[in-house]
Amino acid sequence: MTLVRRRPIPFLPVFLMAWCLTATLPAQEHPSNPSPTASAALPGSTGGQYAETDICQTCHQEVWDKHFANTPHAALLKGNQHGCQACHGPAQAHVDGGGDPTKIVRFEKLSPAETAAICTKCHQSTPETQNFSKSEHLANGVSCTSCHSPHRSKDVNFLLVKPQTELCYGCHAAQKAEFARPYRHRVDVGLIQCSDCHNPHGTETGHQVRAAAGQFKVCTKCHTDTMGPFVFEHAPVKTDESCLQCHMPHGSTNPRLLQVNNVNFLCLRCHTANMNGAAPGAPSFHNQATKYQACTMCHTQIHGSNFDPFFFR
Ligand code: HEC
Ligand code: HEC
Ligand code: HEC
Ligand code: HEC
Ligand code: HEC
Ligand code: HEC
Ligand code: HEC
Ligand code: HEC
Ligand code: HEC
Ligand code: HEC
Repeated sequence: MTLVRRRPIPFLPVFLMAWCLTATLPAQEHPSNPSPTASAALPGSTGGQYAETDICQTCHQEVWDKHFANTPHAALLKGNQHGCQACHGPAQAHVDGGGDPTKIVRFEKLSPAETAAICTKCHQSTPETQNFSKSEHLANGVSCTSCHSPHRSKDVNFLLVKPQTELCYGCHAAQKAEFARPYRHRVDVGLIQCSDCHNPHGTETGHQVRAAAGQFKVCTKCHTDTMGPFVFEHAPVKTDESCLQCHMPHGSTNPRLLQVNNVNFLCLRCHTANMNGAAPGAPSFHNQATKYQACTMCHTQIHGSNFDPFFFR
């Protein structure tokens, strides 16, 4: 089994490319990125002049030193990127007004879509974040800043508001309960994270699951031994729902994260004594005497076999 802790994502080059495009093309030439909130329409945005990048430091020393200079966004202080104003908008009027709080973008006043429009100016084009506008999260009022805090992150990774598991459990109590079942993927000890299987920024597929259509990549990227191809395939493993026909993804009261407590009940959902449906019937000598109940005692290679059509070895 190969464990993939973190996907290496060439974030910076993609970002720079996107930034160059944005910087050189007039806004109208971005039909794929219609801005629901032109920056001038944001509450607090004056749409006016940028102030000197360094001037914010004179009045917001603490934010600058303690909550910004040591974060990845300090990269925005370089060149002509306007530093703090890359997010808070052009702020000459705010400075001229002696720090007028009505003349600056304040994120607590913004809707989730308005916030996303600011952040995705720069974070649109990575494969990781590009589907946010279609995500269940945005559709349900969850904002970039529900999960990320540029100034007050409590996790060294990804500027998260809190460590990931705690963050997700904060809103997903039902899943927290599933991961407390006796058999479970061990997110509690960090063996695996929600984001190994889900993209919190949304996906093309249902339930924000990281999966490619037609193959259950979300599971087989770690459980490579179940993937095949095998000489003798077990048909359900190859279907679209694949693993989820027999397993629970989060946690289960049954060993091996199975959906049912007795293996024979699982098999007999599809294999009946008198053959019907798509699956062939179990032979008549499988008379459900105790000997035949633990199907995988004999049919051990239940995900497929290279040696035996009945998955004995
Ligand atoms: C002349 C001093 C001064 C300068 C320069 C200044 N600010 Fe402010 N800023 C203030 C004051 C005063 C407030 C109001 C604080 C309050 O109400 O708690 C404020 C408020 C803010 C707020 C809203 C804070 C909140 O509680 O929501 C933001 C954001 C902000 N400033 C960003 C900036 C940025 C970015 C710059 C640099 C372009 C900047 N400020 C430059 C004095 C200044
Ligand atoms: C990447 C976008 C981004 C950049 C760059 C940024 N901020 Fe912020 N700022 C935010 C967000 C989002 C909030 C809301 C609080 C939070 O989520 O951390 C915020 C909140 C604030 C506040 C309100 C008080 C607080 O601490 O929560 C002040 C003041 C502020 N920012 C000033 C600044 C200054 C000064 C700079 C530059 C040194 C800066 N910001 C750079 C996004 C940004
Ligand atoms: C529901 C919580 C959640 C929301 C909402 C969210 N994020 Fe994230 N974000 C995460 C988590 C968790 C990670 C770490 C992912 C991982 O471990 O692969 C992350 C990673 C990132 C990364 C770095 C990872 C990369 O590979 O590119 C960026 C940049 C980012 N988010 C930006 C955003 C922006 C911009 C928004 C809003 C448009 C947003 N996020 C909304 C939870 C969230
Ligand atoms: C003007 C461009 C710009 C804007 C706007 C912007 N960011 Fe960023 N962001 C960056 C850059 C540059 C980095 C540093 C990239 C790096 O180090 O790979 C970064 C890094 C991050 C990371 C950390 C990635 C990591 O690997 O740790 C997260 C999370 C993130 N931004 C979220 C946000 C959120 C949320 C917003 C809106 C509140 C936002 N950004 C707005 C340019 C921007
Ligand atoms: C091993 C992979 C995996 C991990 C780890 C994982 N999920 Fe899931 N999750 C799935 C799959 C697959 C589905 C789709 C289930 C279905 O289609 O019936 C799902 C469904 C969901 C749903 C939709 C409702 C439901 O339960 O069907 C939510 C919400 C969810 N997961 C949240 C989380 C949270 C929060 C975490 C981390 C604490 C997490 N997941 C960790 C694979 C995973
Ligand atoms: C601020 C609250 C909040 C946080 C934090 C949050 N979520 Fe969600 N999430 C929601 C809401 C609300 C929905 C939509 C309603 C639902 O399906 O529960 C949702 C939907 C989802 C779905 C899709 C469910 C479906 O049926 O399609 C998944 C998967 C999911 N979240 C995973 C995560 C993961 C993983 C994290 C942590 C990185 C996380 N969420 C953090 C509030 C949150
Ligand atoms: C990021 C890697 C990863 C992904 C993705 C993953 N798993 Fe796992 N899985 C593990 C690890 C590690 C264990 C062992 C847990 C332990 O020992 O506590 C495990 C254990 C299991 C077990 C129990 C094995 C036993 O011996 O009891 C089953 C069944 C399982 N996973 C099915 C799935 C399914 C179904 C999916 C897709 C929804 C999936 N896994 C996705 C890493 C992963
Ligand atoms: C037809 C039902 C079925 C399907 C479909 C299925 N499994 Fe299984 N799986 C089982 C059974 C039954 C066991 C328990 C075997 C035993 O009793 O030891 C099992 C055991 C496992 C185990 C524990 C270690 C092992 O190999 O015995 C893992 C991991 C696992 N399955 C992952 C997956 C993944 C990933 C998929 C999708 C690619 C999948 N399973 C599809 C029925 C199924
Ligand atoms: C979701 C439905 C489903 C479940 C659950 C299921 N199977 Fe199957 N099984 C099939 C289908 C469909 C075939 C392939 C039929 C074909 O290729 O003609 C098959 C083929 C087989 C075969 C090979 C027989 C042959 O003639 O090709 C064996 C042995 C088998 N399954 C045993 C099991 C066992 C043991 C379990 C329980 C651990 C199980 N199956 C669970 C659907 C299922
Ligand atoms: C004691 C060992 C053993 C157990 C336990 C067992 N089987 Fe079998 N199974 C066999 C043998 C032997 C065959 C016949 C192989 C042959 O025809 O060469 C077979 C064949 C099958 C076939 C293929 C039938 C066909 O002709 O296509 C299916 C389906 C099947 N078993 C399902 C199950 C199910 C479901 C269970 C649990 C209820 C189960 N088996 C438990 C030994 C076992």
